[in-house]
Amino acid sequence: MKKTPLLPLVGTGLSGLVGSKFVEMFAKTYACTNLDLTVGVDITNESQVMKAVEKSPADVVIHFAAFTDATAAWRQTGDKNGLCYKVNVDGTRNIAKAAHAFGKHFIHLSTAFVFDGEKDTMYTEDDATNPVEWYGETKAMAEDIVQNTCSSWTIFRIDQPFRSDVFEKKPDTAHRLITGLTQGTLYPQFIDHWFSPTILEDFSRVLDWAVQDKPQGIFHATSGVKVSDFEYATMIKEALHIDGEIKQGKLAEYLHTINRPYQKNTAMSSEKLKSETNIAFTPLHQALEQLKMV
Ligand SMILES: NC(=O)c1ccc[n+]([C@@H]2O[C@H](COP(=O)([O-])OP(=O)(O)OC[C@H]3O[C@@H](n4cnc5c(N)ncnc54)[C@H](OP(=O)(O)O)[C@@H]3O)[C@@H](O)[C@H]2O)c1
Repeated sequence: MKKTPLLPLVGTGLSGLVGSKFVEMFAKTYACTNLDLTVGVDITNESQVMKAVEKSPADVVIHFAAFTDATAAWRQTGDKNGLCYKVNVDGTRNIAKAAHAFGKHFIHLSTAFVFDGEKDTMYTEDDATNPVEWYGETKAMAEDIVQNTCSSWTIFRIDQPFRSDVFEKKPDTAHRLITGLTQGTLYPQFIDHWFSPTILEDFSRVLDWAVQDKPQGIFHATSGVKVSDFEYATMIKEALHIDGEIKQGKLAEYLHTINRPYQKNTAMSSEKLKSETNIAFTPLHQALEQLKMV
């Protein structure tokens, strides 16, 4: 039988928590080129990015790379020479400019941290951004750059992503909770902080759809379920039949002990995405049952 040739795809951050799951799941569909130092590309260097994107036969650029440590980012607040700004803002500008210059569709990864977290219900794509800390601010600036630079673009905002397998380099929230539960080291879990976890196996299918269909606009890509930290930890404990008690805590009290702002609610509705794709999204409790133990 004749083998279907792999489709070329060029991107950044394909070795990270989110990008590597997509690469692994679609290894038989795409031949991915990751623009990183191993191929002589630092995304903060405009000419390196331009040359690499020009050379690629791909018609889509997928941009995962980011400075993702929000606490380290907070220590760089306002510093445009800091790595967070350079990677998230300058890096995104370089990749977006290159995608536009060579007529490629641009897929950009963003975050719920572009919101201030003050809304009681789930954020929709129509809500205004209003970041309260530096990581979110740089990611909001990046979103503006994408919209103002590219003629063909998709932005996906994700929240607390997790994958069923263990990503050793940077364990996701779900696996950090499993470690805490099984080792009895879990901190009290907030009952007044909410989010909507993104199931990375589902999100990878969403990315495949976006590469093929090139939808225009912003999409919230989450499980669509709003949970508190306490509810989420309890769901994981029950899904994996782990013994032990989970103590309740309060973000409001924790905030008195630190000197940085924290979004109270980053839950995002995924209704727009669900209405535009034919993807069968996994119920959150079912995805949690698939989690591999650490
Ligand atoms: N993880 C989350 O909780 C979360 C939540 C919401 C949104 N997001 C967004 O999702 C995207 C992917 O996040 P992630 O968690 O997968 O990130 P990650 O695991 O921290 O990986 C970051 C990636 O960026 C690459 N990178 C960093 N600086 C670079 C540079 N100067 N040049 C080239 N590559 C560079 C890294 O390459 P090396 O490995 O070679 O350093 C790595 O592949 C990001 O845009 C992030 O903002 C993540």
